[in-house]
Amino acid sequence: MIFTPVKVLLQDAERNGYAVGAFNISNMEITQAVINAAQTCSSPVILAVSEGVIKYAGLNYITAIAREAAQSVTVPVALHLDHGTNLEQLYSCIKSGFSSVMFDGSKLPVEQNIAITRKVVETAREAGVSVEAEIGKISGVEDNISVSEREAFLTDPAEALFFAEQTQVDSLAVAIGTAHGRYKGEPKLDFERLSIISSSIQMPIVLHGCSGVPSDAILQAITLGVRKINIDTDIRQTFIETVRHILETNLDEIDPRKILGPARQAVFEMLKAKMSLFGSAGKAGKTMS
Ligand code: G3H
Ligand code: ZN
Repeated sequence: MIFTPVKVLLQDAERNGYAVGAFNISNMEITQAVINAAQTCSSPVILAVSEGVIKYAGLNYITAIAREAAQSVTVPVALHLDHGTNLEQLYSCIKSGFSSVMFDGSKLPVEQNIAITRKVVETAREAGVSVEAEIGKISGVEDNISVSEREAFLTDPAEALFFAEQTQVDSLAVAIGTAHGRYKGEPKLDFERLSIISSSIQMPIVLHGCSGVPSDAILQAITLGVRKINIDTDIRQTFIETVRHILETNLDEIDPRKILGPARQAVFEMLKAKMSLFGSAGKAGKTMS
């Protein structure tokens, strides 16, 4: 298996008290930035692919880019479907060699979320693929997932425990105050809620919407059991701000490499800092591939 199951990465993260970054990829340059930062930092890494990116790039293309990236390094790499809502596509990802899938049933009634998640776990387990699910709505916009602030609600600890027991997923994404996209103000995370959930469900917790979350809050979340940290907006922002700067200051530049190359480098530098903050830097040697 070219890609390492996320479950294996998170087991090591649990043993050694750190979190693994799940970084959303959408093209070759961003994938190279993620994988090169992981290799440079000797960090395990999760390449996350959303349904919107599959629609944009094509499943075979983005899988091929991820496969090439994983084969070019020695650190363990997982390929993960992020916020999967379309079951047919989720199963196609498993067939294509993804080592982890998220079924995002957070917009469904909890009974329906449980029922579908159980089916996904059954199929994924046969293929040795890890499963992440979400209980509680994370507000903000993530490609086709948009939850208005009003609907967003925080994860109920008792419901999270029931969900975890009923589905036996490998990791659980919870809503404790983070949001997808750019924050308007400083996010206020409900650490007490996180602590209660973490001590009761006894499985790795996933935190979505972590772009723009202050470092001290990230570190506190890791001490409370967060083992997978999702980052997309920081990548997009770093990449596009670099592209914009080059286009504005080099009006005659028409070579894409001269524009996308520096953007790749900027994302590479930013992600090295994330891997150090999450504590995954230097842990690749310890992780079972
Ligand atoms: O699933 C992806 C992440 O939750 C994106 O979060 O917008 O804060 O980077 P972000
Ligand atoms: Zn997310």
